[in-house]
Amino acid sequence: MKAKKARAGNPRNEKRANSSPVLLGKRAVRRLANRMNKVLDYLKQNQPRFLTEFCDYLRFASVSAQPKHKKDLQACAEWLVAHGRHIGLETKLYPTAGHPIVIAKTPRAKKSKQPHYMVYGHYDVQPPEPLELWQSPPFEPRIVGRNLFARGSTDNKGQNFAHFKAVEAYLKTGTLLPCDLTFVIEGEEEVGSENLSVFLRTNKAELDCEAVVISDTGMPSLKHPALGYSLRGIIAFEITLHGPSRDLHSGGFGGAVDNPAMALSQLLGQLRDKNGRITIPGFYDDVAPLSAYERKEYSRLPGTDSQLQKLIGVKKLFGERGFTSSEQRSARPTFEINGLTSGYQGEGSKTIIPSWARAKITCRLVPNQNPEHVRKKVLAHLKQICPPTVRLEIEAGHGAEAYYVSPTGKHAQAALRALEKAFGCQPILTREGGSIPIVNQFKKILGADSLLLGLGLPDDNAHSPNEKFSLDCFEKGQRLSAYLWQELAK
Ligand code: BES
Ligand code: MN
Repeated sequence: MKAKKARAGNPRNEKRANSSPVLLGKRAVRRLANRMNKVLDYLKQNQPRFLTEFCDYLRFASVSAQPKHKKDLQACAEWLVAHGRHIGLETKLYPTAGHPIVIAKTPRAKKSKQPHYMVYGHYDVQPPEPLELWQSPPFEPRIVGRNLFARGSTDNKGQNFAHFKAVEAYLKTGTLLPCDLTFVIEGEEEVGSENLSVFLRTNKAELDCEAVVISDTGMPSLKHPALGYSLRGIIAFEITLHGPSRDLHSGGFGGAVDNPAMALSQLLGQLRDKNGRITIPGFYDDVAPLSAYERKEYSRLPGTDSQLQKLIGVKKLFGERGFTSSEQRSARPTFEINGLTSGYQGEGSKTIIPSWARAKITCRLVPNQNPEHVRKKVLAHLKQICPPTVRLEIEAGHGAEAYYVSPTGKHAQAALRALEKAFGCQPILTREGGSIPIVNQFKKILGADSLLLGLGLPDDNAHSPNEKFSLDCFEKGQRLSAYLWQELAK
């Protein structure tokens, strides 16, 4: 990734070259179809029970960021272990320095010659706050029409549970599963996956696999199932501007002393120009450009800017000039203020000059940007433009490279075939705007690429109040998983 520059070729051309039809005899074709039908019938017949189980999974308040929920994470992991065992998987709970990791393996021959795939997911969820904005409590799942509302429903419990159910269908119908699978479901994705990296290193041999299958991203619509081939990276940090040694009377001192909140606003205000470009010198230096092919693929995405505006409730979109909103959201780096705090936040007014002001910031990164290089440039610039009237304190947070894998490989082609079969329409290739930092470790430690088969929809409210998962995505996701193992084994 570092050495070779990321640029997508035209995978649809390669598709013809690469996936020369697998030649099966008529008998073999019929046998395969019969097998698939058994699995698909099982899935169809058992949806009501799957829903009940899914709701049980969602009732655990497995909020990894909040220490008060430590027991809920443990209980959720234990539930997954028991459930996995119940459906015929060989499961184990691995304690870590943080929240436990669930491992679930399909039964396999001692010296199995079948290809081995890892299925990655996470059972931890984002904090549900602000609670008052939920239409029903976040950990009391509620079904409305074809949607299931609960924290963690789309990110990520519903998505990993769909794979669990597909594998159950194979195991419970006694259908030959042509791949060996190891589920790795962690409890710390939303807080940086620190202990999973350790786990990967210590269990490297056991986790050696062809590729990692991950459903923890999205698709543009049910008619546009997608194979993701890129994720953005990230750097996180906090800056605090310190002013007077305590809050001051703004009447007594105002006018003669800098206000840290104002200084911070001005400092941050300089970092973006009117064309939406980040003004930090060198910020865009290593950004991989989009190929003509990729831009064309982007133009196949459904939805208009006015629909997007409506979905997120803004008067008008804003982004870097020269790029479409889809490109801005996934192929361009950003500088975002995630939180801004200073002074009095309570009711009514309070006439003070606050002693300090703080901003929580993350930058999304794209292929070929090195997180530590970008971090250095950003922080150097902040130090340079910080006025002498305040003291700048910087606290560094986590960082991860972007991920990019060519969608022309044989695994990607198999995934595209499975998507088409499961959803009944032609899949598209997407770059994802979010980050899953552990995918880089899968590549570095295990040498395995990740197949991003996201089942979330744009209006799922991931990380927001009223998170939901579409039951159509849940069902089609199960079918996708069922087909995938056949296609990957071809
Ligand atoms: N499922 C998301 C990642 C995601 C969402 C990728 C949508 C692509 C599209 C994941 O659970 C997540 O939220 N990741 C964090 C990582 C961060 C805390 C380092 C993110 O992207 O903010
Ligand atoms: Mn998330």
